[in-house]
Amino acid sequence: MNAAFFETAATALPSLCFEQPPACGLILGSGWSQVLIPDTPLLRLSYADIPGLGASTVVGHAGELLLFERHGIRIAAFLGRRHWYEGAGWGPVVLPVELLRRMGTRNLLITNASGGISPNLKPGDLMVIRDHVNTVGINPLIGPVIPGWGERFPDQSQIYSPALIDLLRKAAYDTEVPLSDGVYAFTSGPGYETPAEIRAYAGMGADAVGMSTVPEATVANAAGLRTAGLSCITNMAAGISGPHLSHEEVLGQTRKTAPVMAALLDAFLARLATSL
Ligand code: HPA
Repeated sequence: MNAAFFETAATALPSLCFEQPPACGLILGSGWSQVLIPDTPLLRLSYADIPGLGASTVVGHAGELLLFERHGIRIAAFLGRRHWYEGAGWGPVVLPVELLRRMGTRNLLITNASGGISPNLKPGDLMVIRDHVNTVGINPLIGPVIPGWGERFPDQSQIYSPALIDLLRKAAYDTEVPLSDGVYAFTSGPGYETPAEIRAYAGMGADAVGMSTVPEATVANAAGLRTAGLSCITNMAAGISGPHLSHEEVLGQTRKTAPVMAALLDAFLARLATSL
């Protein structure tokens, strides 16, 4: 992954993408992609047509870039994400962030599905990410500093923007959707965690656990984007409830929560529009 990798992808995007900076970028994970399909997008581009992004190998992850107008603002949405555990390196994982940065986006909302660790959470809950723990210990900033990604040693005291968190809270109020907040622990996957790992992450202050979002948020923070993260709790983490975890359970719960997720996302975009 180097500047040329990103350049090749950016060159393949239609000029429409760079015509007007999107007011908000979205990177939508498991289950979330289905909640936001506008009737008449300005652009609909398959990941297969974006060099370096490629098709997701995971069931339930769409692979399309959409450009559309909502509440009078322009949105660029990456429906579906690539993961570190797919083994293709960091390039496809963080490419959406770099493309959004090049389009001129100042705001980014990342969503995911996660396992609940905190006893205050239950499946179906939505959690705004206040902070994270990177349990993997490596991250996409390792390597040469990519132009546009800030300095060698970025400050990470406040990766998730208080201003965007505030808009999410207001959106939750508008839609009467209960919204908790918490710390998200990032694991490499693809295996779910062991009960002992979950006890350790709880001790580290984690409220939820998942296999995404942190790489993208790490790059977005370094690159100076205002970033927010939203998690749908799809199951209780290993050892907390039930003897087994499965991807079907994760997809089933996101399907059930989809109407609530859609309402919250839309209200967030409305709030963002009026805040600009
Ligand atoms: N662990 C890791 N990732 C997840 C989980 C989980 O329990 N649920 C959804 N994504």
